[in-house]
Amino acid sequence: MKEMSDGTGLNPDSTESLIESIHATQKKRSLVLNPDYLDDEKLSEDERTRVLKEIFNRNIREKQLSRIISHLAPVLDGVHPTSALVFGPTGAGKTVTLMHVLSTFERVASGRGITFRYCYIDLTSPKTYFGALNEVAIALDGSSRKYRKGIPIQYMQTTIIESLGNYDGYLTFLIDEADNIRPNSDDFLTFLAKTLPRKVSCRLILILLTNRLDWEKTLDPRILSFLKKTDMIFEPYDALDLLEILKLRVEKALDKKKVEQASLRKVAALASRETGDARKAVELLAKAVKVAEETTGRLSENEVDIAADRLEIDKTEEVIKTLAVQQRLALKSCYHALSKDGFRKISTGDAYQVYGRVCSYENLRPLTQRRFSEIMNFLDLYGLVNAKVVSKGRYGKTREISGCLPQEVLERFLSEKFC
Ligand SMILES: Nc1ncnc2c1ncn2[C@@H]1O[C@H](COP(=O)(O)OP(=O)(O)OP(=O)(O)O)[C@@H](O)[C@H]1O
Ligand SMILES: [Mg+2]
Repeated sequence: MKEMSDGTGLNPDSTESLIESIHATQKKRSLVLNPDYLDDEKLSEDERTRVLKEIFNRNIREKQLSRIISHLAPVLDGVHPTSALVFGPTGAGKTVTLMHVLSTFERVASGRGITFRYCYIDLTSPKTYFGALNEVAIALDGSSRKYRKGIPIQYMQTTIIESLGNYDGYLTFLIDEADNIRPNSDDFLTFLAKTLPRKVSCRLILILLTNRLDWEKTLDPRILSFLKKTDMIFEPYDALDLLEILKLRVEKALDKKKVEQASLRKVAALASRETGDARKAVELLAKAVKVAEETTGRLSENEVDIAADRLEIDKTEEVIKTLAVQQRLALKSCYHALSKDGFRKISTGDAYQVYGRVCSYENLRPLTQRRFSEIMNFLDLYGLVNAKVVSKGRYGKTREISGCLPQEVLERFLSEKFC
């Protein structure tokens, strides 16, 4: 039978018209004009530098910018500055500020005929000494080639020295998360700050970023002496700073007409209440935008509240996923015992009984009750259960366990298999 058609030539009941109508609704609700400006960290280094030119808010980091620039400015008169150590909590803008300053400085220096370049060495995921040298070698030859494990360290060092060839300008190594080398950064820093300057003709400047204030204390004192470093501190952002960051992003990334200012104030307030982490503020904004696109097509305080709850759920699930088998089993036993008791309070003994049954069902050897209690402590520390020690008078002390997982997470978690 021939299908009936509406004026558009499409049958209103056909899948084609469903595709068209869903696409039209999505377009109407869409807020994002350019997603790159909402999440700069997933971009490649070149793209990130380009995006940061537009969304980096320099006004709120004026003090830190001035300090770094005064440290580097002597280069313009041919004077070689010392190294710098930049501290600050996570999300305080260390990486973006330094990338912005160094890429701008490169341009200014080149305008004056001074050869200045910088290399970004990304140690955000933990590296060995070999892995860190690998990052330097890759950053210098501009490729994504990885040197194979098993290559002698000396070979890596020679490769780095050779790749600097007869370059005789200034070279800044921006070493992000410099403390992230296992077992420690001593050999790596000794090579960069002591060995390398003697083997190459360029003038090296090390800028080390870290969020560990005590990192210096873990270094060999001799390294500190030849680094001759200057220290700089990045304070966490406050709510007003975060609001400025968000405003600039909205300007570039979103359809402004659909964004209520109160929603931005809420994001800034929520993020600054925790740690003043700009990364968190931007993440919450992106999540709230997603909620808005799925529902009303407008970003208001309500969407921010929903997004904050969703982020909490995502993080809790993330923590559960990383638990070891016995920890997961203990957690699940707890919540099964709690569900039988109408989610009131249970004792460690009640949870342990369920755990014992689960272990025999899964053919696993159960841990002792003492070890099980320790796991309860751990789960309490991670905010996955509330385990409170209460006194029962002459019957001694016992631990009362109550649940604290969000409903949505709990339902999903309990419906999964035990192991
Ligand atoms: N001044 C700023 N202007 C615009 N965005 C910013 C600013 N500062 C931080 N951000 C945003 O916050 C994110 C985190 O900043 P950044 O990576 O510089 O923090 P960090 O201090 O290096 O943190 P970590 O110690 O965790 O590496 C950036 O990707 C950027 O999106
Ligand atoms: Mg960083």
